[in-house]
Amino acid sequence: MQPSQLSALGRRVDFPAIARLMNAAFERPGVLSLAAGFTDNRTLPLAEVAEAARELALAGDASVLQYGANQGNTALRAAVAARLVAMDGGNPCGIDASRVMITNGSQQALHLAASLLCDPGDIVLVETPTYFVFLEVLKGLGIRAVPMPAGPSGEPDLAGLGNLIDALRASGELARVRLVYLVSYHSNPSSRSLSLEEKAGLGRLLKAALPTVAVLEDAAYRELGYDGGGGACSVFAMPEWDGGPRLVLGTFTKTYATGLKVGWAACDDDLLLGRMLHYKGHQDFGTSAYAQALVQHAVRSGAFDRRLELLRSTYARKCGILDAALRREGLERAGWSWERASGGLYLWLAGPAGLDTGFDGPLFAAAMREGVLYVPGELCVATAGRDNRVRLSFGVLDGAELEDGARRFARAALSV
Ligand SMILES: Cc1ncc(COP(=O)(O)O)c(C=O)c1O
Repeated sequence: MQPSQLSALGRRVDFPAIARLMNAAFERPGVLSLAAGFTDNRTLPLAEVAEAARELALAGDASVLQYGANQGNTALRAAVAARLVAMDGGNPCGIDASRVMITNGSQQALHLAASLLCDPGDIVLVETPTYFVFLEVLKGLGIRAVPMPAGPSGEPDLAGLGNLIDALRASGELARVRLVYLVSYHSNPSSRSLSLEEKAGLGRLLKAALPTVAVLEDAAYRELGYDGGGGACSVFAMPEWDGGPRLVLGTFTKTYATGLKVGWAACDDDLLLGRMLHYKGHQDFGTSAYAQALVQHAVRSGAFDRRLELLRSTYARKCGILDAALRREGLERAGWSWERASGGLYLWLAGPAGLDTGFDGPLFAAAMREGVLYVPGELCVATAGRDNRVRLSFGVLDGAELEDGARRFARAALSV
């Protein structure tokens, strides 16, 4: 078969960087991965899931093994809405079970939203840096990701954003901006959270220029703040974002059982939510009813909240191990800088100016020689070009292995 026999989409989709990184790890068994955004197997709720499965079987309702509703398990949707409203401290958009859909990971919701809001050539405004797998989704769909400028510590640069809006207006492209994408809680990759003031400032500026633009707040790590708080309220509770459709996404893959792949989307706009449901119907007409029943059981029984407590303390501890090991190895003296995370699974490090951390650069080659993997910063930035930053994850490794990974990374970094 020739590429010309494929559709435009078929010709566009290419090998995702995430798969390249995973293959590199699988091909070299001795390699320690600080790249994977996986959770820690030791924290996965094997016993709770087994107990839930037993109780579901004893309850005798075989419908848990039947197809479920396209929108998802009603009790689980109600629980998602209630948690969201509790964290937001109010519910001006009237979010309830009817405005929540369960998806096959929040990744599916990202794909549904981008596909239904944007045509090829349209623009999504993204943060700098942002979730690199979403950048690849956009690329595959032929949608342009345009980075919103950020200041030195990753804070939104509102003056720069104003200039960007002016430039898009001048080039006649402002109307092509269809979506604003924010990873606003303990972001992947930066671990940074947007403060309420920052999110309000972005809303005011963007809505003045684009009153009906949609906003998608990806809250994948919201409940993984180490202090246990939900952080700033979501865009649902912010009048600065009134006027266009609002979506907030979340997932149980980081906070409970990763492999069950249960995520969710909440939306305040009937048309958009309806179309996302139709399109999900085309894709799979419903997320696994059994996986949802297991998650719902955990939420109802309290096992989910107990697990969350354990995860927060585990990841806070592992963050401390990686952070301390990197500092001990002298990375700061060699011109590297980073902030210790207060939630999530990542450290985002900036190397000396001019360093190329990309797959073809000297650091990646040195890291492969040392047997350690990281995510190059250039993957997480919407503009092509060299980047001196890296994402390191403390999700998978722990203890001595995590320290060894840090040592290997530091040896590589100090050698280039
Ligand atoms: C910011 C962000 N959003 C969405 C996802 C998708 O997660 P899942 O499909 O497992 O819910 C991830 C996964 O790493 C992520 O980091």
